[in-house]
Amino acid sequence: TQLHVAAETKPLGKPGTAKLDTDWKDLGFEFRPTKSNLRITYKNGEWGEFEMSEDPYINVHMGATALHYGQACFEGLKAFAHEDGSVHVFRPDENAKRLQSSCERTLMPVLPHDKFIEAINEVVRDNIEYVPPYGSGGALYLRPLLFGSGARIGLQPADEYTFIIMVMPVADYYKGGLSSPVDGILITDFDRAAPRGVGNVKVAGNYAADMLPNMRSKKAGFPIGLYLDAATQSNIEEFSTSNFVGIDSENKKYVTPKSSSVLPSITNKSLMKIAEDEGLTVEARDVLLEELETFDEVMACGTAVVVTPVGSITKLGETDEDTVKYTFGESQEEVGPITRRLYDRVRAIQYGEEEDKNGWLYKI
Ligand code: PLP
Ligand code: COI
Repeated sequence: TQLHVAAETKPLGKPGTAKLDTDWKDLGFEFRPTKSNLRITYKNGEWGEFEMSEDPYINVHMGATALHYGQACFEGLKAFAHEDGSVHVFRPDENAKRLQSSCERTLMPVLPHDKFIEAINEVVRDNIEYVPPYGSGGALYLRPLLFGSGARIGLQPADEYTFIIMVMPVADYYKGGLSSPVDGILITDFDRAAPRGVGNVKVAGNYAADMLPNMRSKKAGFPIGLYLDAATQSNIEEFSTSNFVGIDSENKKYVTPKSSSVLPSITNKSLMKIAEDEGLTVEARDVLLEELETFDEVMACGTAVVVTPVGSITKLGETDEDTVKYTFGESQEEVGPITRRLYDRVRAIQYGEEEDKNGWLYKI
C-alpha cells in the first residue's frame, strides 16, 4: 500500500482533465478507478489522521465485525464542476449528520463533523481532475464508508474502525436520465425495514436485504421497486435506492411518505424546499397505497438517481385480472412538467447556474 499523510494543501488542479477510458459524456453509475481514496482509522478510543492511498484494496482482519455482523454504514454525495472551473459539494453537512446517526444506531464511534468535512475537501482536492467537466452532465460521486474493522467473535461492537472515502466520476443511475421515465413494481413479498429497525439509517444490511427483491424486480422488467410499510402493508415507504414523491397537480401538492423506517433523503429535503418555492404545498405524511391513483406524476429522488420520473407502478396479482397498473400522467413516455421543473432547478443549483440561496454548496 502507498499510504502517506495528506500533503499540505496544494494548488487546485482542473476538473475534467483526467484521462478516462471513456468519454465524460458516456459515464454510467459504476466503479471507476481514480487517483486516490482517503482513510482514517479509529484505534485506542480515538480517530487518527487522514491518510491518502492509491490502493483500491484494504487489508481487513477476517474477524472484522463489518464482515460478520454488518457493523457498517455509508453515505453518498456529489461534487459538481461549475462553468468557471470551481468545484462544489452538495450539502455535505447533511451527510455528516446522517453518518453520525448511522454510527449511533450501530454502536460505532461517530466521526466528528469537522473531520468529515475536512476529509471531503481533502479527497476532492486530490481527485479534482476526475470531477466531470461542466456541461458533461456528470458529477464526482463521493462514497464515505465507515465500518468495524476490529475482530470480534462474540456479538459486540469492534474496538477498531475504518473510515474511507472513495470517489468516482458518474452520470445517471438510470440510463437516459430525465428523458425516459422508468417502470416501477410494488414489492409485495418482502419488507425493506421494520418500524423500529434500521430503515432510517444508512447501514449496509439494508442494502443486502434488498438485493433479492431488487434483482427479481429487474428480471421481471421493472428497473425500480417500491416498498410498503412492514407493519400494515398499506402505506407507501420508499424505493430501494431513493425516496418516493407523488405530485397531485390539480391541488398543487408535493406528497412524500413520513415514516420511521424511511431513509431521510437529502435530495428530498432539498426538493421540498424548492417545491415550496414553486408554490406547491408539501405534505410529508402517511401515504396510502390507494393514493397512487391520485398522482399525475411520481418521482424517485436521491443522490444517485437525482430526480427520476416513474411512469408506472405495477402491483402484480396471481392472475392478469388481479394485476393493477397505476400510471401517471397522460403518457408514460413523457416527463411531467413538475418533475422536470424540480429536476431543472436542483441541477441548476448544483451546477452553479442558479443562485445558491440556501447555502447548499460547499466550495472546494
Ligand atoms: N433512500 C434510500 C434507501 C437510499 O439509499 C438513498 C440514497 O442515499 C435515498 C433514499 C436518497 O437519499 P439522498 O437524497 O440523501 O441521497
Ligand atoms: C446514493 O444515492 O448515494 C445511494 O447511496 C444509493 C445507492 C444504493 C446507489
